[in-house]
Amino acid sequence: MALLSQNRFPRLWLTMQMAIGGNACKQALATQYYSSQKNVLEIGCSVGNISSAFLAFPDLTFTGIDIDQRAIDLAKQRFRDAPNFNFSLRSLEELSRQGETFDYVIFAGILHHVDDETGLNLLKNAVKCTEPGGKLVIYEPEAVKSSDGWLMKSFYSHLEQGQYLRSRDQLKHLVEEAGIHLESIEDRMVSPGIVKRPYVARFNLIVGRPGGN
Ligand SMILES: C[S@@+](CC[C@H](N)C(=O)[O-])C[C@H]1O[C@@H](n2cnc3c(N)ncnc32)[C@H](O)[C@@H]1O
Repeated sequence: MALLSQNRFPRLWLTMQMAIGGNACKQALATQYYSSQKNVLEIGCSVGNISSAFLAFPDLTFTGIDIDQRAIDLAKQRFRDAPNFNFSLRSLEELSRQGETFDYVIFAGILHHVDDETGLNLLKNAVKCTEPGGKLVIYEPEAVKSSDGWLMKSFYSHLEQGQYLRSRDQLKHLVEEAGIHLESIEDRMVSPGIVKRPYVARFNLIVGRPGGN
């Protein structure tokens, strides 16, 4: 499945995400804690597959950033009729240096693609970009456990491309180390398509706010 990577074939990758990538479940995770915030940031937005859930909220400004030029090009093309949606190759460090702030900040399935040092750095910069009182919503597939069923194990081994899958405790530790105050952490089962079963992944969904608020 590495052949079907987003940076080589972004449109095909998007089709796969929509067909068997659990997009419907993941979009529900991204929007579940959204409550009319005005400025949304998605870090690692790719082609905008999760971002599109926010088209349902016309009054917000949505900023998506990613390090993959081809993914961003496709996102721009897909959202060309939505002037309140901006996608760019800017890094999170750049946003934080420029003092840009947001009140709903999403990490959707990006941290399991980066090592702890990079993840910590991203999370710390995300804290700087979150307004006091703003929310950080982070969800990642949890590493499979020996007690998980064969279908989930098979799905992970054939389709999951992240090299840094973490346990719930490891993810929680990373998030707290970055100075994020945890409001909740939940396990969410994800099915591949639009039907509810079978489950093929377990995500840890964290809602937090910048520490000290
Ligand atoms: C698995 S994709 C997730 C895409 C989308 N958020 C979703 O849930 O479908 C992970 C994305 O994170 C991006 N990414 C990896 N490291 C990044 C970084 N340091 N800054 C921004 N994006 C990054 C990758 O290019 C990729 O588009």
